[in-house]
Amino acid sequence: MWRKQVEEAARHLHTDSTHDWEHVLRVLKTAKKITREEEGDAEVVEAACLLHDCGYAEDWEQHEKTSAKKTREILKQTSFPEEKISLVVSCIESHRFSVKGTDDSLEAKVLRDADKLDAIGAVGIARCFLWTGEHKTTFQIAVRHFHEKLLKVKDSMQTKAGKKIAGERHEFMKKFLEELKKEVGE
Ligand SMILES: [Fe+2]
Ligand SMILES: [Fe+2]
Repeated sequence: MWRKQVEEAARHLHTDSTHDWEHVLRVLKTAKKITREEEGDAEVVEAACLLHDCGYAEDWEQHEKTSAKKTREILKQTSFPEEKISLVVSCIESHRFSVKGTDDSLEAKVLRDADKLDAIGAVGIARCFLWTGEHKTTFQIAVRHFHEKLLKVKDSMQTKAGKKIAGERHEFMKKFLEELKKEVGE
């Protein structure tokens, strides 16, 4: 089965702590939940989720391009349906959080939403502070990141199911920030 082949080829590439294989599996889980309600090609979504960050550890700045290139090479070596490879590659090219996606297919929207959802809620809080620690930056930078970026994620969702999950995670983040302010604010 191609899923196992993809995992064997890609798992070890995920050496970044916030973009590790656990992140990939969470994105896949969320994407499956969204796809169930929105339909879309489940096979394209699954491959796109599994490979979307495979170039991150090598070249984070342009990782959507590096991941897309690697994805084409990896999928060609597997039993994944050849006629769908370009669809997967296109989803990955436009998955980036900060680069506006150009692929408007449902599968690309599902990947974008599922990936962004991993940046908010309880898991988003954990990843934000993990990132801050890894990059040896300050606590204040992490808190600023919530206001500048993470609290805006909810309004950028492109699927109905994604919007619903984002709403719940957004409320949790707000509660966390209120509690934090109570504990450490003036
Ligand atoms: Fe990414
Ligand atoms: Fe990701």
